[in-house]
Amino acid sequence: MKENIEKLKEQIQLEISNITNLKQLMDFKVAYLGKKGKVAELIEQMKTIDNAHKKEAGMLLNEFKNYINDIFDNAKIKLEEEALTKQLSDEWIDITLPSTSINAGTTHPLTKVIDEIEELFVSMGYDVVEGPEIESDLYNFEKLNLAKDHPARDMQDSFYITSEMLLRTQTSPVQARTMDSNLEKGPIRIICPGKVYRKDDDDMTHSHQFTQIEGLLIDEGISIAHLKGTLEILVRKLFGNDREIRFRPSYFPFTEPSLEVDVSCFKCGGSGCQLCKQTGWIEILGSGMVHPNVLEACGYDPKKYSGFAFGMGPERIAMLKYGINDIRHFYTNNINFLDNFDRLESGDMNESK
Ligand code: DAH
Repeated sequence: MKENIEKLKEQIQLEISNITNLKQLMDFKVAYLGKKGKVAELIEQMKTIDNAHKKEAGMLLNEFKNYINDIFDNAKIKLEEEALTKQLSDEWIDITLPSTSINAGTTHPLTKVIDEIEELFVSMGYDVVEGPEIESDLYNFEKLNLAKDHPARDMQDSFYITSEMLLRTQTSPVQARTMDSNLEKGPIRIICPGKVYRKDDDDMTHSHQFTQIEGLLIDEGISIAHLKGTLEILVRKLFGNDREIRFRPSYFPFTEPSLEVDVSCFKCGGSGCQLCKQTGWIEILGSGMVHPNVLEACGYDPKKYSGFAFGMGPERIAMLKYGINDIRHFYTNNINFLDNFDRLESGDMNESK
């Protein structure tokens, strides 16, 4: 027994020095300590040993088992350490190397304008409300005082899905939706940004899809003075602190009176230039006092409540602010065009005049 064990120990020393991975180590363990392994063979041999030597043989065998287990444990630790060291060296990163640059996008100029307007109105207590782009004739037109045969519909020809459903031509239906769904029929202060659609031929100033921002304020005792004050704050935020506004009479079916709003030219300060076509004024939005028919159609009592509304095109504002001459630039996703706005922050136009 003793001799056998000594021989096996020599063999083990040889084998263990050739083991390079965990799989081989496990095979080694099975070969010695497994059911049919070398140790099992030695146990088998115990039967042939006479009683006088059995005890000593048993002790030798136990000691041999411990010996193998120790060898196994040490080899395992060594292999694991080696694997870890290898992994660490394989995954080593040279943090002093310059990084590959990531091409980060910029905020789209339309988004910039919309964000700026939203931020301003939210600071004045308005909620930002959105409505569906596939809209019913009822909300897009009828509730806004544009009956089915109303001639003003001609200016807003649309993409119809059925005779009653269409791609909305304006954000004004969000006004009607908000008034309708306000069950308390109390005050409202909202702005509604979103996409709108018209059956238009695309050119430098027209697009079949564009964006609008609608504003609506309903309360008791609201007058044109409130509208004027609000829009003055808006144009000064967008075009600079010295800006003035001018109202011109206009017509929208959902407002009475209706007013076109001009801003004093931010380029020449009002003395006349190419941008303002020598008039000193630039048209920027439509507005008016909410028509009593609209209030009534949405469940509001026109004797108690009045309000103002306005609608503007972020494209037009961005074109004026940033000197963009073709509306199609907004939609073509030309990186070279969009990159120009990388460094522009809101209000930059004001300083550059
Ligand atoms: N919805 C109008 C348009 O698309 C713009 C507009 C004008 C909205 C006057 C208003 C408003 O709320 O009061 O031409």
